[in-house]
Order: sequence, then structure tokens, then C-alpha cells
Amino acid sequence: MPAIENLRIRKILDSRGNATVEVDVTAGAVVGRAAAPSGASTGKYEVAAWPSGGVDEAILLFRREIAANLKGVDSAEQEEVDRILHAVDGTADFSRIGGNVAVATSLAAVKAAAASARKPLYAYLGGGRTPPFPLGNVIGGGRHAIGGTDIQEFLSLARDPTPSRSVFANARAHRAVAEILMKRLPGEAIGRGDEGAWVAKLTNEEALSVLLEACDRASAETGVPCTPALDMAASEFYRDGTYVYKERTLTPDQQVEYVAGLVESNGLTLVEDPLDQEDFAGYARLTDRVGSACVVVGDDLFATNPERLRRGIREGSANAILIKPNQIGTLTDTRATVALAKEAGYRTVMSHRSGETTDETIAHLAVAFGSFAIKTGAVGGERIAKLNELIRIEESLGG
Ligand code: PGA
Ligand code: ZN
Repeated sequence: MPAIENLRIRKILDSRGNATVEVDVTAGAVVGRAAAPSGASTGKYEVAAWPSGGVDEAILLFRREIAANLKGVDSAEQEEVDRILHAVDGTADFSRIGGNVAVATSLAAVKAAAASARKPLYAYLGGGRTPPFPLGNVIGGGRHAIGGTDIQEFLSLARDPTPSRSVFANARAHRAVAEILMKRLPGEAIGRGDEGAWVAKLTNEEALSVLLEACDRASAETGVPCTPALDMAASEFYRDGTYVYKERTLTPDQQVEYVAGLVESNGLTLVEDPLDQEDFAGYARLTDRVGSACVVVGDDLFATNPERLRRGIREGSANAILIKPNQIGTLTDTRATVALAKEAGYRTVMSHRSGETTDETIAHLAVAFGSFAIKTGAVGGERIAKLNELIRIEESLGG
């Protein structure tokens, strides 16, 4: 395979209007390109997104150190590329060069390698038998919107094995939410949050009832089972040992009961980050209680980190892991976490961040990793970049 000849970096916009980086890796006749996303409800155990000097320092370090060290490396040697990124950084959490510049470089390199091999990325990475179910955010709040629900995301999980059918079903659920809100809240302003989900003056229970109706309507009209799911992002409202909602404050034990009740009485098929990111024991209790019927996903809990996941597996915390490559910084590290999850029978859910670009790479990674689901919104330019790529992959799989 051709050696890496040239590397470029540029500052581009993300969907929130913040600066992020895009990297081009040239190897022989091909260019691999990837961009880094960014979170708003970031977990405590994620790698540092940027160096202390921010995006500009990351770009400077890339030009001075990363590019020089990667030139001449065989583009097929992904582990070597990622080893060099760690070596140049020299810290345990990418705090010197920033995980975002690392992830953009790592993914641009593998995309160059796949292009040299004349294969789509998912096939180059050896996956492609069972595409993921799309998981789309349709009502939201938390850190992604002002004035929305305490619970960050109310989602539709569309469960048709043909991605294009599921993608359109989630888009239908998203539109159904607007129809229901206009009827229930006549004359009220409604808007959209960072991931394109609807934001309205609703309690968590009201939002859940809108979600259930929207899922039913989308299922009936499309014939695709759309099932309700939540990302609670509970660490964001956990303060001094309690979960602080607008209407109530719950102890950790009460929170386990509350979430179990939500799952059981609403038929939730998936719940993400239902407890604080430190509470492995609480996760284990909840998983014990609802885990046979519900996918319990750790996002902030695991931060795509194999050490965190290993502890979760040991303690029986959750039964699935959210995978966000920029939480850990390289493709090789991401693959190691995915392999560990698979070995332990944990499902993986490949995920976008709330701040995104039109980069489509995670659609390929979800297929390559055999992920149970891909969580990348329901509508919006930077979200449909991934969803439409999933539809193209379906076509190339012969669907
Ligand atoms: P983030 O949120 O990208 O803002 O961290 C997404 C999530 O919590 O899943
Ligand atoms: Zn989350």
C-alpha cells in the first residue's frame, strides 16, 4: 500500500458554528479526509478534545509535529499511525495535541488506506453483514437546548433491517412530533435543538407521551416498528448526590426506581446514561431489573474507554456501550473497545456528537463494527450526511 506522502489540516465550521478541524491524508493517488465532531454534554472520562491553546494550537502542533512524523508511514499500517499519534502526544488523555486532531488524522488515514484498496471503508474494515438500526433524536433538552426537557433526548429506534426504510421511518416520527406539538400546544413557539430534535415547553412525562404517540404514528404509516428510547444524560443534572429535575429531586435509589418504572410502563427499548457516570453499582442494579427487555447503554459511564468498559463488564453495569471515536482519540483504540464489548456480549451503538460536521465516516464504522444501532439524529444536514451514507452502503451491500 502507498506510503503517506502529505498531510493537511484546516479549520472548518461545525454545526454549532464552532471551529473544528478537518484533515486530508494523501497516499499515492488518493486522499482520505475526516473531520472531528464535538460534544456539549461531554463525559468526565473522555480524552481532552483540544490542547490548552484550543483549535489553533492543535493546528500548529499538527503542522509542526504530527505531519512530519506520519510522512512515509505505510497507509495500511493503521496501528502504526495511531501509535505515532500517541507518541507525539505523550500524555494519557491526548491533552497535549487534543483528541479531536488525533481522531481526524486517524480516520483520514484509514479512509486513504480504504481508497487505495478500492474498497468502501466498511468493507475495508471487514464488516458489512448486518446494518445497524437508526436511533433518531426527536425531542430534546438538557445541554442541547435552552428551555427544553431535563432529559436530554427522546429517541425513536426504527427496527427494520433495511436501513433506508428505518431512516425514513425515524424522519416520519420526527415530523409526527411537530404535528402533535402543534395540536397540544396551539400557538406556542417550538424550536429545534443542537441535534435537530424538537424543543418545547414540556415536562419529561409530557415529552414521553408525545414520543409514544409519534412512534405509533410513524410505525403505522411506514410499517416499520419505531420504538421509544431515551438518552437521559443523567450526569448533567446529578448534583451533590441527587438527581435534580425541574419538578423533583431524587436519591440514587429513587432514580433507579424511576427509570425502571419509565422503561416498564412505556415499553422503552433502550435507555442511555440513566445514572451518574460514577455509579457502576446503580447501573448494575438497573440492568438487573430491566436489562432483559431493554438495552441499557453507557455513554458518559464508559467514554469509549476499554478500562471503564472492563469495569462495567466485571460489575454487570449496562449491557451496551455508546461508541464515539473522539472520546478515545484513535480508530485503533475505538476498535479495541468494540472488540472487548463484543467479547462480553455487550451491544455497541455508534454515535455522532451534538456538534457535528458533514463527515459521514461513522456510518461506515457502524456497519464495520456490526453495531446494534447508529445514533445520528433524524433530520438536519450534518445528521443526514451519515443517514444518507448508510443508504448508499445498503445499496452497495445489495439491499
Ligand atoms: P454530546 O451529546 O455530543 O453533546 O456529548 C450526545 C450524547 O450525550 O449522546
Ligand atoms: Zn449520551
